[in-house]
Amino acid sequence: MRLTIDDVRSRFIKHFDGTTGTIYAAPGRINLIGEHTDYNGGFVFPGAVEQGMIAEIKPNGTRNIRAYSIDLKDYYEFSIDDDKGPRATHFRYIFGVAREMMKRGVKVEGFDTAFAGDVPLGSGMSSSAALESTYAFALNDLFGGNLDKMELAKVGQATEHNYIGVNCGIMDQFASIFGKKGSLMRLDCRSGEYEYFPWNPQGYKLVLINSCVKHELVGSPYNDRRNSCENVVKAVKAFKPEVETLRDCTWDDLESVKDKVSEVDYRRAKYVLGEVDRVLAVCDALKAGDYETVGEKMYETHEGLSKDYEVSCEELDFLVEVARDCGVTGSRIMGGGFGGCTINLVRNELYTTFVEECKTQYKKKFGKACKIIEVFIGDGARKLSE
Ligand code: GLA
Repeated sequence: MRLTIDDVRSRFIKHFDGTTGTIYAAPGRINLIGEHTDYNGGFVFPGAVEQGMIAEIKPNGTRNIRAYSIDLKDYYEFSIDDDKGPRATHFRYIFGVAREMMKRGVKVEGFDTAFAGDVPLGSGMSSSAALESTYAFALNDLFGGNLDKMELAKVGQATEHNYIGVNCGIMDQFASIFGKKGSLMRLDCRSGEYEYFPWNPQGYKLVLINSCVKHELVGSPYNDRRNSCENVVKAVKAFKPEVETLRDCTWDDLESVKDKVSEVDYRRAKYVLGEVDRVLAVCDALKAGDYETVGEKMYETHEGLSKDYEVSCEELDFLVEVARDCGVTGSRIMGGGFGGCTINLVRNELYTTFVEECKTQYKKKFGKACKIIEVFIGDGARKLSE
């Protein structure tokens, strides 16, 4: 069951003295392929999902935000002029977005808001981008901002960098803002160019298997991967100054700095170069309707993420093996890693067997349940009511 406008409106009315505001929504995302390529100037291939965040918002004529998290039953009031802002992460996202909008010249005022979401937290489907994009889109609309969609995505990304401490790329916020029902998108993170690819694979389904290992990007492991990539870029730059990101590096460049960087950094960069190539190969395969090649590339990505980039875990490796044993077309860890879901491209006739196998085998091996999430590609950030 999906979250509805009424779920949010009824709470808003209760918490804010019978008044109503305007309702906005933004989704979480999946990513078919192109993982950890965004902050390397590479390609990503995400799509928005139907699950997301819904928020009701009403300007309150003060300089304070009065926010109620419906899911956490938590209320807090904080000033948009206070540099520090709230500590609780769910309120910090809202504060960060408001501040980043102000930095870009939007005349944000205080407001009352209630919000709720149905993106499973820690699943790697980017509940945080859904929250950021909802407020970025909403505040731009309510306070007469003139920011274009890419800038709204950047507001969300800057919120992660400056208020949460995750040095993420642009993929999640891009997908959440630009999403279109029934389409995946290929974004070139170096140039900002993007293209919609209708996603209607005849005979196949996409399904996520949530390991329910809560993925957490705050802290060092994610930023640490990014540092590795930057170390390699620095080494290449020494003899090729025009290189800005790993996207600009050739395989030969990488080989020529092999002895100048650590073994770990080298392996991670090798994964990234391979992943950039794989996204392009997947685009060609999709154009030719060749889903078996798409699937092969997904397995290759998993191998790289697990062995070279080292962002997998035992549970996710296990789920990919279950997929392989069942004859599933493609399977890999999705998103930042360290937990969350695998994304699987499954032929229709295998779907039920695969899902049942995952449930039984996962339970047997880890003594806990995994969760099945069928993927439906939905729209990006939008207004749901006046
Ligand atoms: C997280 C980040 C994204 C991206 C992915 C990995 O979701 O927020 O920017 O780097 O990890 O592809």
